[in-house]
Amino acid sequence: MSKEPYGFAAWTSFIPESEIRRLLKYNVPYYFGGGKPGALPIETLAQILIDLGNEQLSEIKSGNEERVIDDFNYGPTSGKAFLRKTLAKRLIEKDDITLDSEHPENDVLITTGSQQALYAMLDTCIDQGDIILTTSPAYLGFLVPAVKLGAQIITIPTDLQGAIPEHFEAAIKCCKKELGKKPEMIYVVPDSDNPKGTTVPKNRREALFNLAMENNIIIVEDGAYREIQFREPREKPIKALDTENKYVAYLRTSSKEAAVLRIGYSVFPPKVREQINKDKGFLDLCSPTIVQRMLDAYYRLHIDKVLPSALKTYEKRADTMRKAIDDTFPAGNRTDPTGGFFIWWESEDKDFDAKQFLEQEALPNDIIYVPGVAFYPLMGLSYLPEREELVPVERSLNTMRISYSYTSSEVIDIGIRKLGGLLSDQLA
Ligand SMILES: Cc1ncc(COP(=O)(O)O)c(C=O)c1O
Repeated sequence: MSKEPYGFAAWTSFIPESEIRRLLKYNVPYYFGGGKPGALPIETLAQILIDLGNEQLSEIKSGNEERVIDDFNYGPTSGKAFLRKTLAKRLIEKDDITLDSEHPENDVLITTGSQQALYAMLDTCIDQGDIILTTSPAYLGFLVPAVKLGAQIITIPTDLQGAIPEHFEAAIKCCKKELGKKPEMIYVVPDSDNPKGTTVPKNRREALFNLAMENNIIIVEDGAYREIQFREPREKPIKALDTENKYVAYLRTSSKEAAVLRIGYSVFPPKVREQINKDKGFLDLCSPTIVQRMLDAYYRLHIDKVLPSALKTYEKRADTMRKAIDDTFPAGNRTDPTGGFFIWWESEDKDFDAKQFLEQEALPNDIIYVPGVAFYPLMGLSYLPEREELVPVERSLNTMRISYSYTSSEVIDIGIRKLGGLLSDQLA
């Protein structure tokens, strides 16, 4: 047999395809799978495209071709200054983020989705064997690249309010004692996290920030669902406490609050930003300019007019899902989101396997959710508070992430009741 003319890097043999991308292949009526935004401002976006096109045509007619050529060209790796200015203003005004007083836009970095910022953050700050502390469960789009890049992940149990700082503190001590080194990074999603949909209260945000300062560890605060909050008042981001821009890398995205146009915007400590920008240059040279023009118009002129109605839609969908779960699911616990796209459900039956159930019962009945197992790292350790020690990574297979973002309330009601019936038959 002839030998293949290529060889694969080692990671390809132990990193499987993402569970969510695998599930995206299925087109079923009861879709509670990926966190796809379903209440998109499509009319506004269409109008932005028309306005932009008209503006370009009139520029061309008046001989300003260069301006339009610029819209369809390579741009600076860090993103166009006009969009960075618009976003910097919003971060300061809405979320109390401290940015450079003269040129706040210099502190904002545009990336191709916040996924790229996450990847580049890991790529530039993590060496083989470095320790990262995160919640159990956590966003798989962070966990999988972290394992791929050789990080040692330690997961910390959460409750209905998300990350528990006391456990993070104890885990840091445990790392020093058992592994002989401190963690390099803490990753948290404080606003309606993915996958549980929990929101971290103010006192815990402060405690996490103090922990980072005291132990000299950078926090990666992923604010993907920051704008998707149904209830007021919203807690300030952890980043708002970081007035020296030193301890928190703050990642945001337009994907959930505008549209999936692949634009993320982050505030990194300056030296980190330089390295990430270098890495981004290697990854894609720059993010598309025309999309940055679209989003600039959206954030300057439209977001505050159109987002409230999207939030109402998501809240209604979440309420419908809550009620249908409470009416029909067998014994278990669910989270109670005040924003974001997800409810997390855990069966009381520890032997229940949500992944097997998906394949054997849910999918044949046209229902998709994401089995909870996807949100635990492939390898790593877990901190066990009751034993105050690190053990091989713990995964709860009896869990599922159910997304309400994409499907209408009517379909959620029918689909979740159907799922509840199937679960009750199995777990009775
Ligand atoms: C917590 C979290 N972070 C980051 C992302 C990546 O978002 P994007 O790359 O679309 O900005 C997602 C997407 O689902 C997410 O849920």
